[in-house]
Amino acid sequence: MIEKYTKYDHLFRHVKPHAIGGIKIFTQNDPYLIEQKYDEVTDEERQIWKRLFEKLIQPLDQYASKEYLLGLQALGLSSDRWPNFSKLSPTIQQASGWQLQPVAGFLNEYLFFQLNAQRKFPVTDIIRQSKRFEQKYADQNIQNRDEYTPEPDIFHDIRGHCPFFMNKEYGDFLAEIGKLGYDIIADKYGWGPELVAHNLKRLQNFAWWSYEFGIMKKQNDSDEYRKTNNDMDHEIYGSGIISSYDEVMNVVHCSRRESSTSLILPFDIEEVVLTRFDYSDIQDRYYVIDSMESLYTTFENNQDLFLFKG
Ligand SMILES: [Fe+2]
Repeated sequence: MIEKYTKYDHLFRHVKPHAIGGIKIFTQNDPYLIEQKYDEVTDEERQIWKRLFEKLIQPLDQYASKEYLLGLQALGLSSDRWPNFSKLSPTIQQASGWQLQPVAGFLNEYLFFQLNAQRKFPVTDIIRQSKRFEQKYADQNIQNRDEYTPEPDIFHDIRGHCPFFMNKEYGDFLAEIGKLGYDIIADKYGWGPELVAHNLKRLQNFAWWSYEFGIMKKQNDSDEYRKTNNDMDHEIYGSGIISSYDEVMNVVHCSRRESSTSLILPFDIEEVVLTRFDYSDIQDRYYVIDSMESLYTTFENNQDLFLFKG
């Protein structure tokens, strides 16, 4: 685990000591690959999916990015259908070369980047608020609300992430992050564990503040894809925001300057890679990219930031 290597942590700001407390982390030695037992999904679980899905239909139509809305439509997700990985995965594969890999829970960095480097996206099959979720965390105190859980669940993975994988450029971008992460973790450059951990944390920071919790400037053409025009200056592309009603509304209120709960900052990649984060609450900041293309270019042109040699 990279947490125990802290030699270069003084370079980071916004360090949150217990940022991932409580989450069970699966490693190479755990049975982390699973098969989805679609026939065992309960009515209770389907109702939760429906409730969470429907609450977000309107705000996501109005505020999510074009890439998300187009992907959602193409993938055909709906509130009435519990996601069936074996049906969704071939559709995604055809669009971007990515496949869904059902997993038992939160994977360590090694497993996560190893899968991503092969264009496999880990997805979990339990949902927050359900009995199965409660059983899994029976001996741990973990947030488990409609609006947010730090544990990856099917709602975050499918509703939040999957529509983006219908976009080829986005898929290529995530595969590049996966490859870089895997190269770092395999210590391709012979740095040793401290530098491996540090560069991996830099990449995690980048991922967190971009595809998990990123927002972008409102794009000129994106209202064409909405039923309701976007009335704020930003749109949302971070999957961690998209799968949380509270986080979506927090972005909306902050963007419209009705709330000052969270800062809205320009996406300065040097600042982003050195800024740690917290899983356990609404984010206290969001970084704004100009467009998806600008994010891809910034990542490509700043690879040296993830190859810090001490
Ligand atoms: Fe995620």
